[in-house]
Amino acid sequence: MPKSAQMDFEHIVANARDAFAQAEDIVSLENVKARFLGKSGQLSTLLKTLSALDVAARKREGARMNAAKQQIEELLRARREELKHALMQRRLAAEAIDITLPGRGIGPGTLHPVMNSWERVENIFRSIGFDVTDGLEIETEWYNFTALNSPENHPARSMQDTFYIDACSEQGERLLLRTHTSPMQIRYVRTHRPPLRVITAGRTYRVDSDATHAPMFHQVEGLWIDERISFAELKGVYIHFLHQFFECNDIQVRFRPSYFPFTEPSAEIDMKFERGRYAGRWLEVSGAGQVHPNVLCNMGLDPERYMGFAFGSGLERLTMLRYGVEDLRLFFEGDIRFLQQFA
Ligand code: DAH
Repeated sequence: MPKSAQMDFEHIVANARDAFAQAEDIVSLENVKARFLGKSGQLSTLLKTLSALDVAARKREGARMNAAKQQIEELLRARREELKHALMQRRLAAEAIDITLPGRGIGPGTLHPVMNSWERVENIFRSIGFDVTDGLEIETEWYNFTALNSPENHPARSMQDTFYIDACSEQGERLLLRTHTSPMQIRYVRTHRPPLRVITAGRTYRVDSDATHAPMFHQVEGLWIDERISFAELKGVYIHFLHQFFECNDIQVRFRPSYFPFTEPSAEIDMKFERGRYAGRWLEVSGAGQVHPNVLCNMGLDPERYMGFAFGSGLERLTMLRYGVEDLRLFFEGDIRFLQQFA
């Protein structure tokens, strides 16, 4: 047995150790394995030379070869484990979750405070027998102004106040974003006969923007028409509404003479809380009045027979007073920190 044969096993084991160490992943490790343990690997090649030895040497070298084989298998197993472990560590690092971050849970959604007011207002009026209807956000000049008895030269009609649209209706009428919910009065009565009680709420638009005005805001419009519906019913209904809406009966209400083209007489409705952040201050909450005879005519009604009242209130305004919000723009910024306070 040449001395070099003895050297060879140690050499092969050392080579295997290096080669395994260099394999960066399981697949290359399995490829490298063939070079040492495969059918034509280094050990198998040596095995073939064993038959040339005498019995004693063959026995001795055979045993050494087995030992070398076992060593290589052990090295392979250890390296496999190492690579598996490294792979796992890399995955864990890549998919790491920072458990100190606040959870992203899907909190329950909630209505926007103005939508919440909208719903409350509808429910309150429904409970006293009012129908709820929808209006159109794009209106004709006739429904928005003319039918409501607004004079041709009324300032509300001017380009500074109103968003006109560069298009006309099929009948060639000028179109605009409704400046109030009042056109619903005309539309509703032209398709329904009195006695009728109805409210409508929705978006309205004006060229206006500061802490208490926004170019888009919400109004609720109410209308009650029958043969003998006077200012007394207006007062009763509106005061009842305020008590319900603010969940408080300690509210004073006054009807201050005012002017609207579509009502005669007309009033601003002011209210005063006895307690709380606005206590003692008169706050304007609505326009209102007896429906003007010209408007009744435009509704297709005989003003000698029918009469009634109407009112129009700002939903943002009511919401601000209910929650003590000072800047109307907060409602439109979509800041979750503001909105969550109403959840
Ligand atoms: N449309 C009016 C406005 O936007 C509010 C209003 C006043 C509506 C009196 C009415 C009313 O129905 O009777 O300022």
